[in-house]
Amino acid sequence: MSKHEEIPPGVDDRIRRSLPRHIAIIMDGNGRWAQARGLPRHRGHKAGVEAVRGVVERCAEAGVEVLTLFAFSSENWRRPPTEVRLLMELFIATLGREARRLHRNNVRLRVIGEREAFPPRLQARIRSAEELTAGNGGLTLVIAGNYGGRWDIAQAARHLATRVAAGELAPADITPERLQPHLSLHDLPEPDLFIRTGGEQRISNFLLWQLAYAELYFTEVLWPDFKAQELEHALDWFSRRQRRFGLTGQQVEAIRGA
Ligand code: IPE
Ligand code: IPE
Ligand code: MG
Repeated sequence: MSKHEEIPPGVDDRIRRSLPRHIAIIMDGNGRWAQARGLPRHRGHKAGVEAVRGVVERCAEAGVEVLTLFAFSSENWRRPPTEVRLLMELFIATLGREARRLHRNNVRLRVIGEREAFPPRLQARIRSAEELTAGNGGLTLVIAGNYGGRWDIAQAARHLATRVAAGELAPADITPERLQPHLSLHDLPEPDLFIRTGGEQRISNFLLWQLAYAELYFTEVLWPDFKAQELEHALDWFSRRQRRFGLTGQQVEAIRGA
């Protein structure tokens, strides 16, 4: 059996570009950074915020369209209550301080994840920062907070199940294309480059669906040490990948040469 498929629209564009449109980062290693200096873990999270500022600025300058940062996973609630509480306080303080700066830099902020579980004060800060920056046309900065890739897929499936139950859709109509519009980030280009700092080589329930064809970059560098130069390394590495999306290398070369 053969099923000849057209190359879907957008694939040739993703093959040709040497700069990622969307970068997704697991900012890992804050705790170890602090512990190596004899400091409490939350000092590492604080230092991590500085690194965020640098990377956001560099991405905006470079012309990256979307930057998604994993700030708190749905599994991070399992950490000691003091660490969780200090993280929430840090998020509240950071959003309060940084929202206007993001706005000045034409950055549009968006938060994905189950935000209802956050303290009401944090939810209010998120809402006002999103509203303030909604009209900006520069970098889209997505913060994944209380986010889990499995949750994302499950909530999208729930939307479709509701339509099936209402008789609007048959089970056979459920395809990846039908599910996609219900996922977080549905309206943004898929991540092209995934970066994880801190040395671990795993996805930790980040964007499971959306990372299907991202290039995966792992570095030992701990997140608070991830400076502009480290981002350049990752961008340089990315520009040398041959992305194939199921095609052969020859097909890809033909597209690149066209
Ligand atoms: C990532 O750094 C930040 C969050 C998960 C909030 P970690 O806190 O996981 O740092 P390590 O992995 O313990 O060093
Ligand atoms: C992933 O890091 C989550 C964030 C960076 C927010 P973790 O440190 O929580 O991941 P695991 O537990 O080592 O897989
Ligand atoms: Mg970690």
